[in-house]
Amino acid sequence: MSVSEAVDTRMSARAFTDQPVDAALVRRILQTAARSPSGGNIQPWNLVVLGGDELARFKALVAEKLRDDPRLEGEGHEYAVYPAGLQDPYRARRFKCAEDMYATMGIPRADKAARYAFIAGNYRFWGAPVAIFTCVDRGMGPPQWSDLGMFLQTVMLLAREAGLHSCAQEIWTNLHRTVGDFISIPPGQMLFCGLALGYRDESHPANTLRTERAPLEEFSSFRGL
Ligand SMILES: Cc1cc2nc3c(=O)[nH]c(=O)nc-3n(C[C@H](O)[C@H](O)[C@H](O)COP(=O)(O)O)c2cc1C
Repeated sequence: MSVSEAVDTRMSARAFTDQPVDAALVRRILQTAARSPSGGNIQPWNLVVLGGDELARFKALVAEKLRDDPRLEGEGHEYAVYPAGLQDPYRARRFKCAEDMYATMGIPRADKAARYAFIAGNYRFWGAPVAIFTCVDRGMGPPQWSDLGMFLQTVMLLAREAGLHSCAQEIWTNLHRTVGDFISIPPGQMLFCGLALGYRDESHPANTLRTERAPLEEFSSFRGL
């Protein structure tokens, strides 16, 4: 697979089959992804990978939390996923992406319960057999968070090369205490996001979503080129 093909076919998958992913393959992807660049080569990514019984145990714990506190208001957030008062064009893009996603499944705006039930699939890693949590030292700033983002994208592209799909998941910040306790995040680190990894369920309508992108002229200008 070419890099262009990997980029083009990487889409967030929100339903996975239970086909297991070879542990050696996961290790290879993560070790290869460590070739990602980082300012000063400090490599500020820290990962915890869950699969098998450990993932099952974690998911059971999360299901219990969700039963007690369905809106997960108990744990707060360690960081804001979006800035307060998100403005256009970002706000409109976010809205459109969500509407397009629910449209693939025929869930109308008014059906809040069905929308919530679908989004709660996040807390099961969308059925993926491998779950990765990414953490960053609390003292790190935007440049290192950006490095972590590059690492994540590299993981997602290498996953495509290996026939896998993925879904990055910031939603886990809603459960940062539960995650932190379970995976033993050291006090000096914090959770950034999760990443579901596995074989995509090709029959699920949500996986047909091809999200839009702004044209080049909208986000760049060229001078002397
Ligand atoms: C850092 C990061 C966190 C994300 N968190 C979530 C999440 O919690 N749940 C989810 O369903 N999608 C999540 N997404 C997926 C985005 O919604 C998705 O990337 C975006 O809509 C573009 O669609 P595409 O990935 O299919 O190209 C996340 C993506 C990124 C990069």
